[in-house]
Amino acid sequence: MICALNNVFINKVAVVNSHSLPHLLLLPGLLHDARVWQHQTAGLANIAHVSVGDLTKATSIAGMAASVLSRAPAGAFALAGLSMGGYVALEMMRQAPERITGLALLDTSARTDTPTTRENRYAAVQSAQTHFQQVVDELIPKQLLPAHFDDVWLVNLIHSMANDLGEQVFSRQQHAMAKRINSFPFLHLIRCPSLVLCGREDGITPIGLHQEMVNEIPGAGLIIVNDSGHLSVLEQPLRVNEALSQWLAGVAR
Ligand code: MLT
Repeated sequence: MICALNNVFINKVAVVNSHSLPHLLLLPGLLHDARVWQHQTAGLANIAHVSVGDLTKATSIAGMAASVLSRAPAGAFALAGLSMGGYVALEMMRQAPERITGLALLDTSARTDTPTTRENRYAAVQSAQTHFQQVVDELIPKQLLPAHFDDVWLVNLIHSMANDLGEQVFSRQQHAMAKRINSFPFLHLIRCPSLVLCGREDGITPIGLHQEMVNEIPGAGLIIVNDSGHLSVLEQPLRVNEALSQWLAGVAR
């Protein structure tokens, strides 16, 4: 019912304001599909043409970036990436800075993996071949604030996205992330309005990784979202939408 109402809303706004709205391209994280951004897709439809990139097919972060760029709206667009989507967004900034009018990095990092993180990824890929459900079960407490462990809708959504994508996508995405390059030395070259946002309790990409990006990106702002873990877009959608709305207001059309 909510989805149906939102669709009507999106269609209505698209007819009324279709010429003046900027394009906003959203990039999901590990084992996420477009549903991870559902609150933003609906909530920002009155101020942007929102679409969600597919990061499930390519085998490298550079390949994901190239694939999204080849399917992106013609011309320039604002770009927001969540976690793995943030790694891809930073790669897109390297590949096609002239097409990106604004950059939002949410619950992510510019750094490459530590050796331990990389080993953990390969171990998870190995386990997922025989125990995919268990691997997904173990991801959830790392992604969410403990207060959200009992949120049945949220936990079911994470399971549903993961199960629809499956073990092969998990393996591809983990290998791609393990091999990603260090984006930190490129941050000072970013020239578009930039927002860096992080759940206060994000245990996967903690606040310090966001603070150091803000220190490097000229003019970037930092928003720390209370009562949220790593999945701020789902855990605190209203606060995230408010931050994204303010950022979009400063992005050139
Ligand atoms: C994600 O949510 O995309 C991943 O947890 C990021 C990562 O594992 O580095």
